[in-house]
Formats: sequence, C-alpha cells, structure tokens
Amino acid sequence: MTDSPAVFDEIDPLPRLLMGPGPINADPRVLRAMSAQLLGQFDPQFTHYMNETMALYRQVFQTRNRWTFVIDGTARAGIEAVLVSALMPGDRVLVPIFGRFGHLLVEIAERCGAEVRTIETEWGRVFDPAEIETAIVKHRPKMVAIVQGDTSTTMAQPLAEIGAICRKYDALLYVDATASLGGMDLPVDAWQIDAVTAGLQKCLSGPPGVAPVTLNDRIAGLIYGRKHVEQGIRAADDVAANGPRIQSNYFDLAMVMDYWSERRLNHHTEATTMLYAARECARILLKEGLAACFARHALASRAITAGLTAMGLKLFGDQKHKMPNVTGVVIPDGVDGEAVRGSLLADYGIEIGTSFGPLKGRIWRIGTMGYNCRKQNVLITLSALETVLAAQGFKLPRGAGVDAALAVYREAEKAAAKAAE
Ligand SMILES: Cc1ncc(COP(=O)(O)O)c(C=O)c1O
Repeated sequence: MTDSPAVFDEIDPLPRLLMGPGPINADPRVLRAMSAQLLGQFDPQFTHYMNETMALYRQVFQTRNRWTFVIDGTARAGIEAVLVSALMPGDRVLVPIFGRFGHLLVEIAERCGAEVRTIETEWGRVFDPAEIETAIVKHRPKMVAIVQGDTSTTMAQPLAEIGAICRKYDALLYVDATASLGGMDLPVDAWQIDAVTAGLQKCLSGPPGVAPVTLNDRIAGLIYGRKHVEQGIRAADDVAANGPRIQSNYFDLAMVMDYWSERRLNHHTEATTMLYAARECARILLKEGLAACFARHALASRAITAGLTAMGLKLFGDQKHKMPNVTGVVIPDGVDGEAVRGSLLADYGIEIGTSFGPLKGRIWRIGTMGYNCRKQNVLITLSALETVLAAQGFKLPRGAGVDAALAVYREAEKAAAKAAE
C-alpha cells in the first residue's frame, strides 16, 4: 500500500510589495505579454519578435552593436556566457572587487580557466579610475571585468573613463549591469564598453530568467575565432575556427549568435515566454524614455534617503556613489534586523533585503526600482518601517520620514509643473 500522491493547491501567493534588491514586482504588462500563446522557434512571427527584441535592446544599451540579444537563464547566465566564450584558459583577467558580485566575476572567470588578478576596496566604496589604470599597467590583462552597480553594497562604480583606459592598454572591458540597467545611464558605445550583460528582475520590471547582452565587434570577432559548430547541425562549410573550442555548449555564444542571425541555426530552443517578457520590458522602458526612467530612479533615491535620514537612520556607504535604485541602511544598535524584516513581511507584506559577507546583519537594503520605483511605494515602505522600528523600541520622530520623502516629491512635482508652463 503506497501513500496516495500529493495534489497541491494552485499557486496563489499572498500579495507582496517587493522593496528589496530584486526581484521586484513585475510590471503587469510584462505578465500579460508572458501569457501569450507559444510559437514555434522558427515561426516567422517568432523570429520577427527576436529581431524586434534585438532592436529594442540596442536602444536600451545605447549601442549600434549588431550582437545585442538575450541569453536564456538568470543574470549570471549572461556573465558566464560572455566569460566562457571570450576567455581562453590562461587568459589574464583583472577584476576590481567592491562587493559580492565582483567576487562572482572572479569565481566565474576562474572556472573558465582564466588567470585572475584582483584589486579590492572596502565594501561601501568604489574605485577611482586611476586605481584601475594602475592595476591594468601592473597586470596587463586581456580583459577587465567589473560590476556597474553592486547590490550587495548598494554602490555604483563610475565607468565613463574605464573604457578609454582599457583601450589604451588593449584590454577588453566587460560590465555586469544586472542591477543597474534601466536605473542609471550606461551608454555602451560612448563609454567604449566591449560587452555588457544584465537581468530583467531589477530596473527592467520583469522576472528573472533571461539576460540581455550586447557585444561589440572586437569581442564578437574573438568569440567567432573559437567557433566549432556541434556535430548533428554542422553544415559542409562549417569549418572549425582555429581558436580552442568554447568549454560550455549551452553558453557557446558563437553558436548562440548563429541562432540569433539570419542563419537561425538551431542551438537551443529559445525560451519563448521569456523572450516575450524581455521584449515587453524593453518596450515599456523605451516608451517611458531612458532619461525619464533614470530621473524617476534618482528622485526615488533622493526621497527615500531624505525619509530614512529624517527617521534618525544612518545610510550605508559613500553616498556620492550610491546606486539610485537600492539604498543601504545601517541597522541601528539594539535593533534586531531580522525581526524588523520579518514584521515588515508578515504584517505589511513588504519585503526588504539584508546583505551578504561582511555586511550580513549589518545593513538592510531597500530597493526602489523598475515598476516599484514610485512615490506611493516609497511612502508606504517608510511608514511601515517607522511603525516596526518603534515597536522595537527605536526612538524616532513619528511621521518625520514620510514627511521628508513627501517633501522631496512635492518639490519635484512643482519643478515639473513649472517646466511644463
Ligand atoms: C550585480 C549583480 N550581478 C549578478 C547578479 C546575479 O543575478 P542572478 O541571480 O539573476 O543570476 C545579481 C543579482 O542580484 C546582481 O545584483
């Protein structure tokens, strides 16, 4: 006699307001796009959507790069695909580390067999471009791999000068913009960045599951120099390139790019529903406008930092280099950070984050990004946090946080009305 198989209820979670470092609530338009019926992967309707997705992400990345598409998998799939396809065993890579995700780049580059060199700065700081240049001169890497916004510390590395520095020493520049794309400026061509990858679940208002990527011809040429089309789909004229075969099949961008080209050579089955999501995320962002979207994130950042400061809380890290879409808050002495997060979730349905490594239990991370980056969510989160902190015995001026944040929004609304006159 066996137990009868379990049959569970349908998925029907309690509503949550996701104000952590991501994922965040998806834009309902993205969810609607994802409910469209599947198409065959070579159906002209579907390949047309693929081409439209490429065109949309060229605008999001502010690039003319032909090779702008999405890789199936979460954001780290994008990182892994670029690194495994571009780096050959023994290639030297420089990773400037200013948080957890710099360590992730090291981890992935090492697994690709690269010879990794690092420079590290204290969590809560970023690098001066001169520090990066000094390390490039010392290590002469083939590639510099760096994060734009490291959500673990809430810091954003200025990148405008790094591309030119890399060109000076003939190094490639790869940027992980998972947490920053759509929330702050990243003009890929103007900043001479060779490859960028991202994810949907932060400022792009979508679910995790595909990684937008853009590659310029410098790096695409290098990847094509390692092209070995797999047996079974190889045509007579598919002569193997001279370079060593890319170690991963799934993340072999030389083959993935053939799938995204006119050739449409079958590699994997494109994740149909995620393609719809990625297309809708970019469409929504571009409809709002890049500049308007960056301004919305910057305004929320000013409002939430004003609110938290007015409550008597201390912000974490070098505020000049704070990401606009995530705010680090030092957990006050005597306050149980996990109890605060627990009460926000259980009593208010609001999720905020903690952090990792040296910051575990020391800071909370509050996200104001993508679909959730709006006045009402800033005010609701501050108001709930105030009540929960007061219940923990933290002395704070009641109402001050919401008032301060609202004042920032009122000021911006007045300025916008004046500009529209
Ligand atoms: C900067 C950065 N890089 C990479 C990742 C990894 O993304 P995923 O969990 O989607 O693979 C994250 C996730 O938070 C991130 O913030």
